[in-house]
Amino acid sequence: MLNTRQKVLRKFWYATVPTAALGEGPQAFKLLGENIVLFEGPDGKPAALQDRCCHRTAKLSKGASQNGNIACGYHGWEYNSAGKLVAIPQFPPEQPLPDARVPAYHAADRYGYVWVALEEPLRPIPEIPEEGAPGYRRIHQFYDKWNTSALRLMENSFDNAHFSFVHKGTFGDTERPRPEKYEITETDYGFDAQTIVRIVNPPHAVRVTGTAEPYTTRDMHNKWYLPFSRRLDITYPSGLRHIIFNCATPIDDGSIQVVQLLYRNDTEEQCSAQELIDWDAAIIAEDKDALESTDPDAIVDLSRKIEMHMPSDRPGIIMRKQLLELLKQHGEIEVPR
Ligand code: FES
Ligand SMILES: [Fe+2]
Repeated sequence: MLNTRQKVLRKFWYATVPTAALGEGPQAFKLLGENIVLFEGPDGKPAALQDRCCHRTAKLSKGASQNGNIACGYHGWEYNSAGKLVAIPQFPPEQPLPDARVPAYHAADRYGYVWVALEEPLRPIPEIPEEGAPGYRRIHQFYDKWNTSALRLMENSFDNAHFSFVHKGTFGDTERPRPEKYEITETDYGFDAQTIVRIVNPPHAVRVTGTAEPYTTRDMHNKWYLPFSRRLDITYPSGLRHIIFNCATPIDDGSIQVVQLLYRNDTEEQCSAQELIDWDAAIIAEDKDALESTDPDAIVDLSRKIEMHMPSDRPGIIMRKQLLELLKQHGEIEVPR
């Protein structure tokens, strides 16, 4: 699926840059092939505009934030958070300004990231109940560019059949290549998928899982949020919860920004943020290596038997079905070969 050709994808929220980065000035980002600039708008709230000055097209991200507006670095023309031109320093005060603007987008600060929707969003930003909840902490794990597509990361996130192969260096159980069954419930935001998986528990994972047994289990409640977010809620027998939230933000048709947050119901003393980052970094590096070797133009085609590696209730098939319905509803069937 070539994301930049599916216009309906512009109507969803995506995590873009860490909110704290806006304190350093305007930030450039590419979302669904569109160059955008993010900056601190009024009251410190994030704002997002097309990264192109309507004077001589200079990139606004090379300019400066000031008083909730953004000033172009070329001649200082200033725009507010709605994209309206509000000042031309070359004009005398009495000269009226032309009615000019650059396109503005929806922007919101959530979970430490600036989320952007290029058009009126169809769905809200996914809720994470553990955000700010007593007993939980949030850890920013990863913010990396991958050369793959958002759909590839989503389908991989629900693909239990790769654990024994891709993750044999971390938690994958090579003795059990046959994946456990997923129980899937379709929802208005995508689906919920549940399964229990036995995993290898090496000594350096003991503080992550809360058990010293050589094997343990992951009780996984995995949610897919159409189109490219997911929440993986893992409960270990120790009672520890390891809740991963990902947004696979489509930069263009061949690359994504991978945002990964982690919520845990333990303390820094029980398992440090760095230990948790190191553990998941080893896992995610294995996924990255596999996904970057795939064709990023993931195919939306229900007739192919591509999910034969999964026993039943195949998440990849349901994901494609829902995406296809979404594209049909919006009259945008550009289904690739
Ligand atoms: S190009 Fe932006 S002010 Fe001239
Ligand atoms: Fe994986």
